[in-house]
Amino acid sequence: MAVSTALQEAFNRHINAEFYSSYLYLSMSTYCDSIDLPGFAHWMRIQSQEEYDHAMRLLTYLEDRDGRVTLLPIEQPPIEFDAVEDVMRQTLEHEQHVSHLINQLYAVAAECADFASQVMLQWFVNEQVEEEKTARDVIASLDKVAGRSDALLLLDREMGARTLAPAAA
Ligand code: FEO
Repeated sequence: MAVSTALQEAFNRHINAEFYSSYLYLSMSTYCDSIDLPGFAHWMRIQSQEEYDHAMRLLTYLEDRDGRVTLLPIEQPPIEFDAVEDVMRQTLEHEQHVSHLINQLYAVAAECADFASQVMLQWFVNEQVEEEKTARDVIASLDKVAGRSDALLLLDREMGARTLAPAAA
């Protein structure tokens, strides 16, 4: 059974939001590189890759459900940030926003009584809990560092060890 027109539109809007997330984190990665934090830059590149994978996961699902994918324009992300603390604060705010969007998409699937989409979107609902927690954890680590360059160097090294999550690989 194909998805309804309303759900197809909602999926297309969310595919765009995930591609924007990928673009935003890539921009944050280049900013971190510009302030000589290669570990944070690497972490943000992985984050960007995961968001691309989220978009592709939704896109493939829509195709599988005989829906029509419409690639919408991707907004320009911010280029400059105040500091790495600002980058992580904006990351948490963005993930909270994406959680809201996922909930809205889930609500449309529920209104359309589309059970397959609700099951599929459950993964994204859980993923958002993780995404918000991860951003909060990094902010807590930065709070502990409190501007000490030696501690920031160690944290940057730790951030540089991130690998692509198996679920998104
Ligand atoms: Fe795919 Fe970070 O939301």
